[in-house]
Amino acid sequence: MAKPKRRYVCQACGSVATRWQGQCADCGEWNTLAEDAPQTVFSQKHDLSGGGRAIAFEPLDAPSERLIRRATGLAEFDRALGGGLVPGSAILMGGDPGIGKSTLLLQTAAAIARSGGEAVYISGEEATGQVRLRAERMGLADAPIRLAAATSVRDILTTLGTMAPPALLVIDSIQTMYSDQIEGAPGTVSQVRGCAFELIRYAKETGAALVLVGHVTKDGSIAGPRVLEHMVDVVMSFEGERSHQYRILRSLKNRFGPVDEIGVFAMEGAGLKEVGNPSLLFLSGREQPLAGSAVFPAMEGTRPVLVEVQALIVRLASGATPRRAVVGWDTGRMAMLLAVLEARCGLSFSSAEVYLNVAGGYRLTDPAADLAVAAALVSALADKPLPAQAVWFGEVSLAGEIRPVAHGAIRLREAAKLGFDQAFGPADAPGGAAPSRYSGLAMLPNLVDRIMGGA
Ligand code: TYD
Ligand code: MG
Repeated sequence: MAKPKRRYVCQACGSVATRWQGQCADCGEWNTLAEDAPQTVFSQKHDLSGGGRAIAFEPLDAPSERLIRRATGLAEFDRALGGGLVPGSAILMGGDPGIGKSTLLLQTAAAIARSGGEAVYISGEEATGQVRLRAERMGLADAPIRLAAATSVRDILTTLGTMAPPALLVIDSIQTMYSDQIEGAPGTVSQVRGCAFELIRYAKETGAALVLVGHVTKDGSIAGPRVLEHMVDVVMSFEGERSHQYRILRSLKNRFGPVDEIGVFAMEGAGLKEVGNPSLLFLSGREQPLAGSAVFPAMEGTRPVLVEVQALIVRLASGATPRRAVVGWDTGRMAMLLAVLEARCGLSFSSAEVYLNVAGGYRLTDPAADLAVAAALVSALADKPLPAQAVWFGEVSLAGEIRPVAHGAIRLREAAKLGFDQAFGPADAPGGAAPSRYSGLAMLPNLVDRIMGGA
């Protein structure tokens, strides 16, 4: 029959080991393994005499209830969610400390409460006075939110049981929650998992939309409970540089919608402001063309965003090892691009320090950024500014070809709309409205000739 087996769970990533180790083999954190409650291991042979119930199978096309979403009142939040809150769904909201998760959710709760919905905000981190003070500063003090400071899941569920289920239930944060049914301190994997399970069950049973705030570890994953990502319907991350104003709400997993839509906000004195048209947001003040700066029409889901890529190249006199630093782009990708520029175009970066920065604290993930980065690098190396009103996009292969990318037409349309009258991209020009001058570049050497020879 069943025999208990020792197991050790990493408190940082949730991975399970059968032996205690000083370092987690999965995430590499030290001293994070802790013994978990013994798990019952069922014997190989299945005993079916216990009498399970038969389950009914259903066809896929059986009539089902239509998914009704509730708008939060924050259009950017709705957009990132794929069109609003789904009743009974569970959302995990991750993000660095101080990025604005509590602010965003307080604003969302206030918007729902003001539109006549019931919104419950449970703060496990801040006292109600603190939350109230913040609400006052943001001009939300009159919103009829139900606010409480609590950490006991039993207390929270008991209280919720005495009232009509709310439209929105915010738990800020899941790592501070505590269940007396489970061993361990708040924040441990078993506590976080158990508390989340209870709360998600409440949401599913009552149709309340649940938002769990989750802290993020150094390496960027939502702390402790990676297991939580499997339990919830939607995983969102709230990102941005704390020194910059802009915040991007991204969905990393969404059982009810696409995962490539983003919401854009600006953190201001009175809370988060929605940025409906983020195209120009990430361009720095570009009065006169500077060497090493290229504009890239990036795609975020279905939305184009123009961003500026900046490169700086410093020639080294001595034989010191040159530095390479990248902010906002993939380091490996830049190394690859430098190698291709050296191998295919005969440019030499080996004795120079190379710095690459994406303006505005933006993080580029779009593969079409290659050409803009290459243009910025070549422009910096040659110390020649690129044409001021030009955009650059295309993927670069190891052979130095410039490959077509998705959504070319949308990128060009957005660039034209914002006054960019010149575009450089893959040889096959995308159709549709475009900047008046489009130059198709087949190979990376064509780009170098263009810049060196004066475009
Ligand atoms: P907060 O929502 O507490 O972050 P999180 O819950 O993700 O830890 O945001 C706190 C930061 O936001 C804080 O550094 C100050 C800033 N902030 C503003 O700039 N303006 C505002 O109106 C508010 C409420 C916060
Ligand atoms: Mg907070």
